[in-house]
Amino acid sequence: MDIKKIRDQFPALSRRVEGKRLIYFDNACSVLKPGRVVRAVSGYLSANGACAGGRSGHALSAAAEELCHEVRRKAAAFINAASPSEIIFTSNTTHAVNLAASSFPFSRSRDGVVFTAFEHHSTMLPFIEEMKKGNASVQMALPGGNWELGADRILPLISRRTALVALPLCSNVTGQSFPAAEVARAAHARGAVVLADAAQQLSTRPVDVRALGVDMLAFSGHKIGAPPGIGVLYCRKDLMKRLKNFSVGGGTVSGVPLGRSGLPEPEYFSDYRRFEAGIQNYAGIAGLGAAMDFISETGYGAIEERAQGAAALCREELAGIGEVQVLGPAGGGLRPAPIVSFVFRNKRLLAQDFSIYLNNELPRHLVCVRCGSHCAIPLHRLRGLGQSVRLSFFVYNTENEVRVFIGALKSFLRSARR
Ligand code: ALA
Repeated sequence: MDIKKIRDQFPALSRRVEGKRLIYFDNACSVLKPGRVVRAVSGYLSANGACAGGRSGHALSAAAEELCHEVRRKAAAFINAASPSEIIFTSNTTHAVNLAASSFPFSRSRDGVVFTAFEHHSTMLPFIEEMKKGNASVQMALPGGNWELGADRILPLISRRTALVALPLCSNVTGQSFPAAEVARAAHARGAVVLADAAQQLSTRPVDVRALGVDMLAFSGHKIGAPPGIGVLYCRKDLMKRLKNFSVGGGTVSGVPLGRSGLPEPEYFSDYRRFEAGIQNYAGIAGLGAAMDFISETGYGAIEERAQGAAALCREELAGIGEVQVLGPAGGGLRPAPIVSFVFRNKRLLAQDFSIYLNNELPRHLVCVRCGSHCAIPLHRLRGLGQSVRLSFFVYNTENEVRVFIGALKSFLRSARR
């Protein structure tokens, strides 16, 4: 792969901030945007700007509608869904999971939810809210002492009461992967459905919902190069019909006749339209289409190879620095995503201070990492950790950038020793 050709496609990478070169290792939060995404967004805004959804019969509205159909088809193919009608556009993963949790048809005899301690807050909190409303009971699968959390820790929690099992395809903290296909088989055998959080996987590794056998899957466009504010909830067609209404209004109904009482009696669509209330983010949808094109044309093989190469070098270098502890299982398990987090063994050293150092103190570079709990506070608490530093890699990262980072870490540690 010609790395220059790849990097040239990302306008933000050529920026200098106060004369310093940007090194961007915060890809698990959001990846930078390829120029074609910028052009697709501005193309919709400058040449169209109208609404879709069959609202207006004019040419601009028809073009916006065709854009939505095209990107819905593309999104279905991207994750190998059986039909574009299984794709619900949302704002992001968080919105997608809130939709899934709030509309899920829990019953008295089937109200159980099982999720893992590795969940991002966005996949935990919506179900905790359902529990508080009395709709669901929740169990959390816990990791072992070496961070391992395989099917053996999830399956025993799935019973005949379990309605839904939620799990991430990989952790946004440690990068470790989870056995979604095995969990789906076991959940189905007990009559439960599976919701997978693919937010951290799709930037570097393909997802095939039918091979995994999951019933619902959520992802955010901004983590694969689309603008913020567009995401997807995939939902199997027969399950989608059973979901309750979530947010209703314009675009969700085939008609609203007045009933005998004189009040409106809405007749809702049974497909994705029931969940896409109001005017949608058409600019974001255009950007999502272009982001998927970028990934398809670059190829997951090349993207993952580049990101994993940088992640492997980072893990190897960090392993040689005694003052830090890398988070996650030491070897074994499924192939991890290119995400590396660590903590300082010396509790007086704060991840926040290191992040500020990377922002301000390097003479020639500005290095972007994420420090904190990464919206995974329960996992950090379970492991007795405060804030961690996270590096996450994408196709434009280089091993040289990792070396700059490791040099910066060593000089931060040296200055802390003084
Ligand atoms: N989910 C994003 C992250 O992990 C925001 O950084």
